This record gives sequence, C-alpha cells and structure tokens, in this order.
Amino acid sequence: MTPDAELGAAARAAFVTAFGAEPEGVWAAPGRVNVIGEHTDYNEGFVLPVALGQTTRAAVARRDDARVALISAQHPDQRVDLAVADLAPGSPAGWAGYPAGVVQALRERVPGGVSVFVDGDVPAGMGLSSSAALSCSVALALRDLAAPELSPADLVDVARSAENDFVGAPTGILDQSASLLCTAGNALFLDTRDRSSEQVPLDLAAAGLVLLVVDTGTTHSHAGGGYGDRRRECERAAQRLGVPALRDVPDVAALAPLDDGTDDGALLLRRARHVVTEDARVLEVVGLLRGTDDPRAIGPVLSAGHASLRDDFQISTPELDACVAAAVEAGAAGARMVGGGFGGSAIVLVEAGSVDRVTDVITRRFGAEGYGAPRTSLAVPSAGARRLA
Ligand code: GLA
Repeated sequence: MTPDAELGAAARAAFVTAFGAEPEGVWAAPGRVNVIGEHTDYNEGFVLPVALGQTTRAAVARRDDARVALISAQHPDQRVDLAVADLAPGSPAGWAGYPAGVVQALRERVPGGVSVFVDGDVPAGMGLSSSAALSCSVALALRDLAAPELSPADLVDVARSAENDFVGAPTGILDQSASLLCTAGNALFLDTRDRSSEQVPLDLAAAGLVLLVVDTGTTHSHAGGGYGDRRRECERAAQRLGVPALRDVPDVAALAPLDDGTDDGALLLRRARHVVTEDARVLEVVGLLRGTDDPRAIGPVLSAGHASLRDDFQISTPELDACVAAAVEAGAAGARMVGGGFGGSAIVLVEAGSVDRVTDVITRRFGAEGYGAPRTSLAVPSAGARRLA
C-alpha cells in the first residue's frame, strides 16, 4: 500500500493542477468488507466489517462564491460546477451525487461553496463500498474544516443521507460506519440500533490466514430494485410479527406466525429467517474471535451466511455461488458473498500458503462455466477515515 503521506501529496498536487490553488487539506476514507452481518443493518441488527487498505482521497477547499466544483480522477469527463442553491436530489447524478449529497446535508453548517478533487482505488460496483468511501472522505473534510461539533455518529448520518436522500439508494449505516469507525488490525462490532461499537482484534496474519476478496466482475447498484425490495420485505415481516424491527425477533421459532399458508407468507419467512440467523451468526463470530486464537473457527459460520443469503434472502448470483463452492471445495476455511448482493465480490478465508491454489481453482471453475476471469485482492483490516495532509 502506498503510504498516506504520498497519497496526500499526490491528491494535493492534482487539486492544484485542477483548480489553480492549494486545497485546505486532504482526507482519506476506506472501502470495507463485512466479515459477517449482511442485510442486518436496516433491521437494526449487528454487523462486523473491516476497513480495506484501498481508500478514496478528497482534497478540499472552501470557496466563497457559493458554488460546488467536483472533479474525480476516475471520471475526468464528468466534472461538475454548479451553484450550491441548484443542488437537488439526483442532480448532479453519477459519481458526483455522493460528494454533492454531503455538501447538501451540511449546507446549514458549512455555508458557502466548496471545491473537491477526489482520487481513489476502491473498485466501484464490487460490493466494497466505494460510494461510502467517497462520501465519508468529503464528510470528514467538511467536519474538520467547518463543523468540528459533529460527532462520528453525526458523520455517519451525513454520509448516509447523501446516499439515501440525494442519490436515492435506500441503504443502512453499515458502509459509512465501517469507513469512518474501523481501526487497523480490528473488525468493528457494531450494534446498528444503539450505535454502540467495539473493536474486535482480527490478526489473520498471525494465524497464517488471509481474507481473499474475489471480485466476480458482475456489478450491482443499490439504487436498483432488488435491494429496496428486500428492505420492504423485511419491514413487512416485522410488521406482521408486531415487532419494531426484525432485530427484536428472539429466534427462528418465533417466525412461525409468518407461515400462513400463502406464497407471500413463505417468502417473508425466508427473508426474516436470514436476518434472524445472520444476527446470531455475528454474535457467534464475535464470540469465536474473542474466545480463540484461531480465526479458522469462523470459517463455517461465514459459509453458513452465504447459504442463507443464497437460499433465504435470494440475493446471490451464479458467479458468487460458483466462487464460494469452488473455494470451499479447494480447502478454504469458509467463504461468502459480501455486500448488498446481485453481483460484486465474495470473501474467502484461506491459509496464506494456499491462496494461489485456491485462486486457481476458482479461476478454472469460472472458465468452465463461461464466466470472465475473477480478480482477487487481499482484505487487510486497515485504518478508518483520516486526514492525510
Ligand atoms: C449495502 C448497503 C448496506 C448494507 C449492505 C448489506 O452495502 O449499503 O447498508 O445493507 O448492503 O449488508
């Protein structure tokens, strides 16, 4: 990984080239993978993400002409320059919606305009939260420059509002919390209801393990239909059970009333069963990580999480299923799809010495199925959002 100082200097120089003036500073926010706890956040349950080494960097300066100028190294042809007063949900669209949504959410606290240059290496559309990395880097910048009273939880809400209210993706707080609150060497055990969190040490290297990220090359968008459908199904299930959120269902047996003999009842039962068992899996993984020096023990729980997302929540894809099956057959400790679903990446918990072999088995399986070659990287539990320069 390139050192922070170097990344900060590069973003500063690029800002100067783009805007002809120095930025006030440079901030970075990482992408994430979730070890376990998928689609639990908007059900007020538990999550356990780690921050990635890959980040988005934002070089930022305030301006007094009430305009927002946004430039991205990844989208050089999509520059945005408009009056703050013209910001509105969906406008600007595309990548610029995330930083624009942050500016909009902070309009009363950060008067005037802002110039932002962003650069990053969190791959987009792969379930690794490139969008949260983008919005959190800008939110942290504006907090430091103009709104020091904002707490970390406030910043999570600002970044989430950019995504929910401005871009129109009905996500929970997993990604933004991971990007802002994770620390190096740890997973973040977060209760999304009361926002209490704990850092859980996750030293995979000491155990001879790595967390391999396999990008299946199929992309997703949470502003599309599937994610929102699942969210509404969970809300309906909670309503039928008479609980504020599925978090409040104590166990699978308590889901029985959903099974009213209709297809809809059967569907809601499956969706809710994923959430209830997934919350239990988060607690189980946290218990295992605290109780043993051997993180291999969490492998089967990760694989069970995949089966639940595939069979009960029905958000996996043939590519993700093939990846997980091939990894486990090749001897990985466990594997599962990550993120919102309908494409993106899987994680594979595997012996460091077996990475090449397991990668090869997955790649050959993809070839045999006629899928494009997957791309792999390593998820090393890394630092959360921070100022670089
Ligand atoms: C996406 C959303 C998160 C969360 C996950 C699924 O990443 O942005 O809020 O719901 O999907 O766990």
